Amino acid sequence: MNPILVKVTFVSGLRTIVLDEIAQYPELVLHHQFGDEIFLELPTSLEIVRDLKSITNAFIVRQDTKLNPRFINSHKSILGELVEMTLDDRAQTFKTFSLSCAGSDSVEIQKIIKFVSVQYKLVHAEEGADMKIHIGKLDNDSWEIGVCLTSRPLSVRNYRVVNIQGGMNPTIAYAMNSFCSLKQSESYLNIFSGGATLLIEAGLINKNLTLQGFDSDGKRIADSVKNIKQAGLIKNINLKAADIYDKPEFGMFDIITSDLPFGQLVGKNENLRDLYETFIYYCETHLTPTGTLAVYTSEYELLKELLDTSKFEIKESLSLKLITSVNSYLYPKVFICRFK
Ligand SMILES: C[S@@+](CC[C@H](N)C(=O)[O-])C[C@H]1O[C@@H](n2cnc3c(N)ncnc32)[C@H](O)[C@@H]1O
Repeated sequence: MNPILVKVTFVSGLRTIVLDEIAQYPELVLHHQFGDEIFLELPTSLEIVRDLKSITNAFIVRQDTKLNPRFINSHKSILGELVEMTLDDRAQTFKTFSLSCAGSDSVEIQKIIKFVSVQYKLVHAEEGADMKIHIGKLDNDSWEIGVCLTSRPLSVRNYRVVNIQGGMNPTIAYAMNSFCSLKQSESYLNIFSGGATLLIEAGLINKNLTLQGFDSDGKRIADSVKNIKQAGLIKNINLKAADIYDKPEFGMFDIITSDLPFGQLVGKNENLRDLYETFIYYCETHLTPTGTLAVYTSEYELLKELLDTSKFEIKESLSLKLITSVNSYLYPKVFICRFK
């Protein structure tokens, strides 16, 4: 039987960021990669995996040709072992469980469900379960059984007590910040701060950074303050309601980051080209000479055209693929820029 592994999933396009984060922990050893999934050897503590900032979800899994529902039904401890590892010292966070598997009304699956309920005193729930167990057939005739390590995706951060429309995926915010030498810098400006995701993710990495943000929407500022408080960073982050067209003055910064407005989040009378031009000029005049500018947008063709004629050059980029709440795809990009 193949060994138990940890499987991590992430936003398509963040592979290099996830591999870099994993490489920071000697306890985490890469086993193999397959598509947008990375497999790690089972570490002694799963807490390090639960602390990873760049991943969407983590599971403990076993893959083997034998692991079909009939086999698991007659060797229930194989699944039991994964459930016990997930429960470990976190039994309080798991009250309900779901089991996803094709043919879930079969006798074998029903017996497996009964086993988990009785053995681990978990209530079976189809929707919104705390513990998610899966049994699935892979393309190569193998089967995978697995248990998600957390009740909510790891990309859903505990500090997000208020959900702000257009709030950025925190794993992408982490990725952008990872290009900005946060630990070697002193000052950080986030333009169009919205829900303050970029600021919070930066503050969690370096509490000594001077963190400034601004956004024209006062309600968003007020909501994001609740998230900042929850993250324990209220003393570290300074937010102001300001419109970029008014050229607000906060000084010079070693790092500027922005999740640029596009679509609905552009004000009614705002022209995207004017807005992006104003943004680039603001960055040219407020970034220190050796500083880093990290920008995220779905309107990357327009942004790139304007950057090409600016004082900046694009040093690195990430092409991402995101699924939206209405099951369509977004293809945003991250550009990391420095002065030419
Ligand atoms: C894509 S959202 C940023 C989302 C943010 N990164 C988050 O995680 O919530 C863009 C933000 O730009 C702000 N905005 C739009 N036009 C602006 C302007 N002219 N000046 C300042 N902020 C503006 C909007 O209020 C909105 O909060």
